[in-house]
Amino acid sequence: MSKLRLGVLASGTGSNFEAIAEAIASGYLDTEITILVCNRPQAAVLEKASRHGVPTAVIEHGNYRTRAEFDSAVRDCLMEHGVDLLVMAGFDRIVTKTLLEAFPDRVLNIHPALLPAFTGEAAQKQAAEYGVRIAGATVHIVDGQVDHGPIVVQAAVPAIPGEGEEALRARILAQEHLIYPFAIKLFAEGRVKVEGRKVTVRGCSDPGGQTLISPPRD
Ligand code: GRF
Repeated sequence: MSKLRLGVLASGTGSNFEAIAEAIASGYLDTEITILVCNRPQAAVLEKASRHGVPTAVIEHGNYRTRAEFDSAVRDCLMEHGVDLLVMAGFDRIVTKTLLEAFPDRVLNIHPALLPAFTGEAAQKQAAEYGVRIAGATVHIVDGQVDHGPIVVQAAVPAIPGEGEEALRARILAQEHLIYPFAIKLFAEGRVKVEGRKVTVRGCSDPGGQTLISPPRD
């Protein structure tokens, strides 16, 4: 069977992009990234892509009149590169059906919160200010509403009162770097079934017993 061909959309630092590229280099993920599309020419992710030998395309959203026109340029680029699964990794534009219809149930996003809590910007800050005891990250399928589609994988981390938003952000990010390659691997192995909002994963054992209680019970 030929390898799953990934396209990545990113706008910024690219630590999730790099976690995926490293998972491929280490052999954990048997896929290839055929194209990184970035909407910001100065983004650090571009340098990371060239270090990993991943082809890049800069498509600046400011050069397009509407979201749909921008999305059709992105879609055409992804299709030229034979992308099977599209991965949003810190992409700061809302995508429209122009793009989504080309990849039905095949666009993933990662959000730094346990959805459906704390959608939108600055999710880690929202969680810290709210005073949650358990925070986390979610990989979900993109469905046209922001941070909304069917959930594939989540990871939880304890939130420690008074630790500050930066420390929480770092602990969430470390989990993002684990669960994004894992979620992609599930797709690459053809183990994911999507029915409405429900995602089932073939061959994943019951996580019973792995309860996270925060603060720890004494
Ligand atoms: C991550 O926190 C991700 O969850 C969010 O944007 C951030 C991107 O970080 N969607 P990076 O560019 O992958 O380092």
